[in-house]
Amino acid sequence: MVLSSFCLRIKGNKFCSRTMKYLNSSADLLDKKSSCIVTSLKNARRLAKSLGGAKQLRNTIRDFIDKNGNSICVQLDGKIERLLIVGGALKSSDLDSLAKLVTPVASQLIKMPIKDAVFDLEAFKTKKVKWDHIVQVIAKAVTDNAYQYDKHKSKAAEKYSLKQVRLHAPGAEKRELSNAIRLANALDEGLKLAKDLGNEPPNVCNPNYLLKESRRLARKPNVSVSSFNETKMKELGMGAFLAVSKGSEAPGQMVTIRYNGAKANQAPVILIGKGITFDTGGISLKPPPAMDEMKFDMCGAASVIGATMAAIEAKLKINLITIVAAAENMPSGRATRPGDIVKSYSGKTIEILNTDAEGRLVLCDAIAYAKSFKPKAIVDVATLTGACIIALGSHASALYSNDDQLANSLESAANESGDKVWRMPLWEEYQGNLKSNFADMANVGGREAGSVVAACFLSRFADNEKWAHLDIAGSAFHSGPRKGSTGRPVPLLFKYLQSQEN
Ligand code: BES
Ligand code: MN
Ligand code: ZN
Repeated sequence: MVLSSFCLRIKGNKFCSRTMKYLNSSADLLDKKSSCIVTSLKNARRLAKSLGGAKQLRNTIRDFIDKNGNSICVQLDGKIERLLIVGGALKSSDLDSLAKLVTPVASQLIKMPIKDAVFDLEAFKTKKVKWDHIVQVIAKAVTDNAYQYDKHKSKAAEKYSLKQVRLHAPGAEKRELSNAIRLANALDEGLKLAKDLGNEPPNVCNPNYLLKESRRLARKPNVSVSSFNETKMKELGMGAFLAVSKGSEAPGQMVTIRYNGAKANQAPVILIGKGITFDTGGISLKPPPAMDEMKFDMCGAASVIGATMAAIEAKLKINLITIVAAAENMPSGRATRPGDIVKSYSGKTIEILNTDAEGRLVLCDAIAYAKSFKPKAIVDVATLTGACIIALGSHASALYSNDDQLANSLESAANESGDKVWRMPLWEEYQGNLKSNFADMANVGGREAGSVVAACFLSRFADNEKWAHLDIAGSAFHSGPRKGSTGRPVPLLFKYLQSQEN
């Protein structure tokens, strides 16, 4: 029997990029010394027998019920120190159910005093779930559980000891498996970067910080980073963007990251991220409760930077342009007033009726600017509306698009990555809400259909380009005791970018 195993390396919580590393060994599952093998009950019985641990196994699992959510660890004496048995393995019918099975195991694994673990992927293989999906789900579960953010604690969080996870699949094609692991390592890096940026406090993470972090990507081959400062934006006529950053002491930046992974003549995919590093609402000031969470208003930017990092790490054969619209929305004597009229980069004029609807203002100039690259598609990502949270909660991001094919690609990427979206309408009827008596349009409609109307506003700037918008107000971060960035929709964007290779 030809056996192979690979390695996914997980490092500590350093705020720096990690080396992507996977091992491709042809060792038998039992050949190598290992702290822990993660497997099913059925396979554990077989493994324990070969290891001379049948009796330990029998004693330990006496009361074990083999069902989803249950797991048990069998201690052995030999060079394999533990078998971690996952209840309900071999029964997954899709990615969601596999994720439900694996997530608690990943959390248990992180707490164990071990340096390495090997997943016996055969234990999770069913007809309906492919090998690369198993790798993806396991790696994602481990990545999420291994994430720690203690940069600003005076005492570092207790470190887990797990250093590497090997993925072992005798039945899988070597190339399929090594490719899946390569992508998993890239996603791990992109997710960590997105979460770190999202969690960073707003007195540190301002527009210049996002520029600085973007510039780090330019150390990699085929990547360059440039930015328009406010002077340049004034010159270009980006009046909508400037109306937002005007009230802040922290100057805005429109950052462009270019990654050339394909032939120069191939049209680029464009990702745009809302990078409001703090959203007070401006003169239309927000109420105090949970206002701290408006530091997450740059999670769109964090996710496009994270997805770009993953694409670069995975050396995807695409041309990608990532635009980060970074500004802070503050009230001040210089801030935009409700009633002010500004001229956007597109030439269209906007009556700003509510300074808290600022995301669409920075994005509309970014979208109009994106058109100059003659893109294959434009996808913007934004924590755009509270109404989106009311509509979909935190489970799905809202998807809007003026192009069915693009919407389908994004929906497939969502299904394949488990990073859910739900498509919402962009019907003409909703456009009426944006009527202004004084300018080409207002920046807000009424109370109804807030997320849809915000998307309608953006659609006016995309014109005939293939464009999609993801409202991630509900999915980008957790509130309450788990407060923190989720890194979403990095998994979805990364999958989508993979689908754009040809
Ligand atoms: N950043 C907010 C949206 C938001 C709210 C994201 C809560 C995440 C959690 C956005 O800039 C905003 O303030 N939107 C307003 C729009 C309204 C004034 C039309 C909103 O949703 O209330
Ligand atoms: Mn706002
Ligand atoms: Zn906002």
